[in-house]
Amino acid sequence: MEETKNKSIGFKRRINLSVKMLKQAWRLRKRSLITFFVGAFLETGGSISAIYASAQLSALLAKFATTGSTVGIWYWFWVLLITGLLTGLGFLTMSYAKRELYFVFVRWSTNTFLKALTEIDLPGFYDDTIRNQINKVAGSYTWQMSNLSEANLDLMYGLIRFVAITAVVSQITWWIVPLIAIFLVPTLISDSKVANLQWFVWDQKGDERHTFWGLEYIIRHSKGQMELRSSQAAKYVLNKIDTMNRIFYSEQEHRYKKARPMLIGSQVLENIGPAIAGIVVLKQFLTKAISLEKYFFITGALIRIGGALNNIFGTVTRMQEPLLLADSYFKLLDEIPKVTDSPEALTLVAKTTPKIKFENVSFTYPHQTDPIFTNLNLEILPGEHVALVGENGAGKSTLIKLLLRFYRPDSGRILINDQDLNELTIESWYSQIATLFQSFNEYPLPISENIEIGRSDQKSNKKQLEQAAEFGGVDELVKQYKHGWETVLDSSFKKGVEPSGGQWQRVALARAFYRRANVLILDEPTSAIDARAEYNIFNNIFDHYKNKSAIIVSHRFSTVRRADRIVVLDEGKIVEQGSHQALMKKGGLYHELFTKQAEGYRD
Ligand SMILES: Nc1ncnc2c1ncn2[C@@H]1O[C@H](COP(=O)(O)OP(=O)(O)OP(=O)(O)O)[C@@H](O)[C@H]1O
Ligand SMILES: [Mg+2]
Repeated sequence: MEETKNKSIGFKRRINLSVKMLKQAWRLRKRSLITFFVGAFLETGGSISAIYASAQLSALLAKFATTGSTVGIWYWFWVLLITGLLTGLGFLTMSYAKRELYFVFVRWSTNTFLKALTEIDLPGFYDDTIRNQINKVAGSYTWQMSNLSEANLDLMYGLIRFVAITAVVSQITWWIVPLIAIFLVPTLISDSKVANLQWFVWDQKGDERHTFWGLEYIIRHSKGQMELRSSQAAKYVLNKIDTMNRIFYSEQEHRYKKARPMLIGSQVLENIGPAIAGIVVLKQFLTKAISLEKYFFITGALIRIGGALNNIFGTVTRMQEPLLLADSYFKLLDEIPKVTDSPEALTLVAKTTPKIKFENVSFTYPHQTDPIFTNLNLEILPGEHVALVGENGAGKSTLIKLLLRFYRPDSGRILINDQDLNELTIESWYSQIATLFQSFNEYPLPISENIEIGRSDQKSNKKQLEQAAEFGGVDELVKQYKHGWETVLDSSFKKGVEPSGGQWQRVALARAFYRRANVLILDEPTSAIDARAEYNIFNNIFDHYKNKSAIIVSHRFSTVRRADRIVVLDEGKIVEQGSHQALMKKGGLYHELFTKQAEGYRD
């Protein structure tokens, strides 16, 4: 993805984004957008009429003071009152429509962004450029996209008002509008420069922001707090966070300070235009070149034009930050590397359990130099229960990630029923498998949903839910819970409980079982589960998954020994494979690892 460094966005892109936002608003809620424009025209018409009525009334009042004539006074008084009311109503209508669209945009931008994240090609999360882009957008998109939509509408309103007032005033004096506009230009430039600062710093200090969020997350969650407190690391982490913030914000402050003289200068200039106009018009009146009504009308309009221009320029400035965000937002959506199927991808048709074959697979993680696998070969027959063992870092989880196509081999192929995994639609492959990862998800949802999410594309099935729960050893938990299946697995909820580590793992296992897939992939499924439950769970797997394949990674030889075949990985190479008995007889790495663990259990 192209790194968008120190950018201020060009005029064309601005217009492009504004139009994009308006189109989006139209798509999301036509009614609100129409209401908004009705309000804008009502407000504009009302306010111009009000200036006119006010000028007439003021002149008549002045006349009354000298001549005592009351003709027309009450008429213009009522006109003024009604136009004032219309203006107010117009304004209210606009605000209402804007608010509606604000909420709609919050929902839309959240859904769109989060959906894009679920489609991103996994290595993207490990790429610092993409990571920074994601973090940058994630930090403020929920409100900034809505802010932009709101500011965008304000701009439309500002333009309508400006054009209308200018059209009216130009009939009397043509030069006022350009005069005021010229003196506002420096403000526009300096304000937009300041708004650019934050984004500039963001791109420079992406690592600091990322560290900040990682640490902030730990502090915000109870699990993080426990270790933080007992290891007395709170102060250290708080300091670290402060350091990250200091680096981030002191850079901004520094740049902001440098911009200050420019800001003050432009503020002074901004007032010069209206001042000159005021002097000229007053002189015209004093030399009787214009009438009193005209004088009142022009000065009234002068203030409004200044206001309208200021509003437009202010809105343009206010839009700067959300525009930069939107620019990143849309770029991210457009350019993010997505999980893709090849155009000719085939749907895997597997009525029965498919065969899996790694054929000369070599793989290196992105940005790394040393390969994890070189020419790895492995075949898993339908219905086979294979255990993967090996020391930490041997490549067990990596093998699973390749099998799930989170990463693709540098060379070689992974074949599913003799079809290259790269040439299958990923959804058709995923529908065949159920996984339990080393770090599984703990959904803050009821226990029933925590399991049923394993097959969320199908209607929930109570019988299957109960069976999956039984297989995972969750049934006994549900019985104990006061709220049964409704119990939320997070004790900060009123109906909640906090499962223990092993209880959570059982729930995650039940979730995998509930999927009823042909291929079960379990990475350390019972690392936190007690011996008795583990025994039962594996009995269930080995007894009930006769026609289904299982790939089980485990450091526990009590589970491993029952597999049909044990594959021993060492530094990315398969060093041995066979049944428990065969490998023990061989006296290699498996024998060594097994004996070491067994020694620990002897007297
Ligand atoms: N996203 C990644 N980017 C770069 N290197 C990685 C990544 N994930 C894992 N590795 C490296 O790949 C090697 C194999 O890791 P893997 O997770 O496959 O080991 P494992 O056999 O599952 O170990 P464990 O028993 O500890 O779970 C390790 O050296 C690890 O540092
Ligand atoms: Mg692992």
